[in-house]
Amino acid sequence: MAKSNPSKSAKKPDMPSINIGIPESQRAAIAQGLSRLLAETYTLYLTTHNFHWNVTGPMFNTLHTMFMGQYTEMWNAVDPIAERIRALGFHAPGSYAEFSKLSTLADAPANPPKALAMVELLAKGHEAIARTAREVFDVVDSANDQPSADILTQRMDIHEKTAWMLRALLED
Ligand SMILES: [Fe+2]
Repeated sequence: MAKSNPSKSAKKPDMPSINIGIPESQRAAIAQGLSRLLAETYTLYLTTHNFHWNVTGPMFNTLHTMFMGQYTEMWNAVDPIAERIRALGFHAPGSYAEFSKLSTLADAPANPPKALAMVELLAKGHEAIARTAREVFDVVDSANDQPSADILTQRMDIHEKTAWMLRALLED
């Protein structure tokens, strides 16, 4: 008994019915929110890796190394987000076309910015993802979806902490 899918981007695969105690409409809304989180995390992952390659100036060593830690963390984070979308019964997006539709974050600039402009851009990106995770939390919480809440809580924690560390580099 399929209900209509309220989500535009979360695609329901042709698969056996699921009964995990969360109605399909709520699973669809959560999958849609997690898809946005996945797209934004992947986008910021790529921008951070880009900046790891292209950073210049006296802070090269510090930032080159710091960015590596950050992109590695995000690279590892996308897998549990995508697999949670699958466990909720939806396809996980995984293409640049889908990510660009889902993400509110812009691609990395074509010309690499100065080192501190990179830091500022990344700090804003981490704050934006923290806001997305916090927004998605409402529907996750009302659906009693603890595994998704756990993922969102961890993502908010890491993005807020990383944003702080990047902002600290911008202070005197
Ligand atoms: Fe490298």
